[in-house]
Amino acid sequence: MKDTLVVYWTATGNTEEMAKALAQVTDADLYTIDEISPEDTLKYDKIAFGCPAMGDTFEEAEEFFEWYEQLEYKLDGKKVAIFGSFGWGSGEWMEDWAERMSQLDVNFFEEPLMANEAPSSDDLENILAFGARFKSF
Ligand SMILES: Cc1cc2nc3c(=O)[nH]c(=O)nc-3n(C[C@H](O)[C@H](O)[C@H](O)COP(=O)(O)O)c2cc1C
Repeated sequence: MKDTLVVYWTATGNTEEMAKALAQVTDADLYTIDEISPEDTLKYDKIAFGCPAMGDTFEEAEEFFEWYEQLEYKLDGKKVAIFGSFGWGSGEWMEDWAERMSQLDVNFFEEPLMANEAPSSDDLENILAFGARFKSF
């Protein structure tokens, strides 16, 4: 088990691309939510959660949310980053998710990381820089 976990859900692969780049640069364990339980997720102190926009609110990404809500209130003291891909608008689902995070007693890392649809080469550069900072967070 590594120090850092990147765990994500994806519908069409865009958030997965982000997750893979992030895991590589942070030297993290990488799992989808089907591959790791909420309980095992909580064994890590540094966690990056990835979930794409499936509506204006975070909860509308139901597959991810049903898994995530089992650990949401158990994240006290964890170092947490959030990321994901979206299709349009200004990332309302991510604002909603970050707002939920701000209610928790977590050590929340920076502004969330977003990419519009598949990450562009600029997005990938951002992801690598974000990951490098998260690694030393
Ligand atoms: C059912 C559904 C609902 C979506 N709702 C939104 C939305 O409310 N806002 C948005 O920006 N993108 C929305 N999208 C677009 C996805 O967030 C976007 O295509 C994203 O890149 C998908 O990421 P993924 O490939 O990791 O699944 C929606 C896509 C689907 C399939």
